[in-house]
Amino acid sequence: MMNLVGNTKEELMEIVKRRVESCATCPLYLHRNNVVVGEGSLDTPIIFVGEGPGEEEDKTGRPFVGRAGQLLDKILESVGLKRNDVYITNVVKCRPPNNRTPTSAEQRACLHFLLAQIEIINPKVIVALGATALNALLGSNYQITKVRGRKFEWKAGIIIFPMFHPSFLLRNPSKAQGSPKWLTWEDIKEVKRMFDEYKGKG
Ligand code: URA
Ligand code: URA
Repeated sequence: MMNLVGNTKEELMEIVKRRVESCATCPLYLHRNNVVVGEGSLDTPIIFVGEGPGEEEDKTGRPFVGRAGQLLDKILESVGLKRNDVYITNVVKCRPPNNRTPTSAEQRACLHFLLAQIEIINPKVIVALGATALNALLGSNYQITKVRGRKFEWKAGIIIFPMFHPSFLLRNPSKAQGSPKWLTWEDIKEVKRMFDEYKGKG
């Protein structure tokens, strides 16, 4: 292991980025135009984790900038949060062809990058957006539809908070009471409450 003591969070994240850029561990590297490492605040108490880059993300190198990302922005804005108040990343850093779900081998190959990002930021809460992020972090025994809005204690006391993926909400646009969107607007209020509680408490 190289000695990383004394580096700033920005420098450490830059090291992760360079390692992702040179990664050829799984076949997803073959088709990528850009890696999508993540963006946002490195001093935030809350990280959002999605599944993997889509077409727009692969084109731009930025997470959640397509249709799902625009909805994520609106969900954040509804409670007064901006993208840059939190950190946004994904389970895999390269786009799976045709936006298929990354295979478990691809997820395993990439997971150490996410774990490094979590170590650098040291958040209080990880919002797992959708089934892939939930299962990558907590294991395959959990169903997003059953556990969204619940808090799970993870390593080092970090809370995992599962929410529906914005792409799922695009396919389920009803806002009726009890609908996925309605539940998501309940969940994001709890995210804001946790953000306010933990912000600045390092
Ligand atoms: N969907 C995801 O899971 N991540 C992105 O970055 C964009 C869409
Ligand atoms: N299935 C998913 O994969 N994600 C959701 O958010 C909901 C159902």
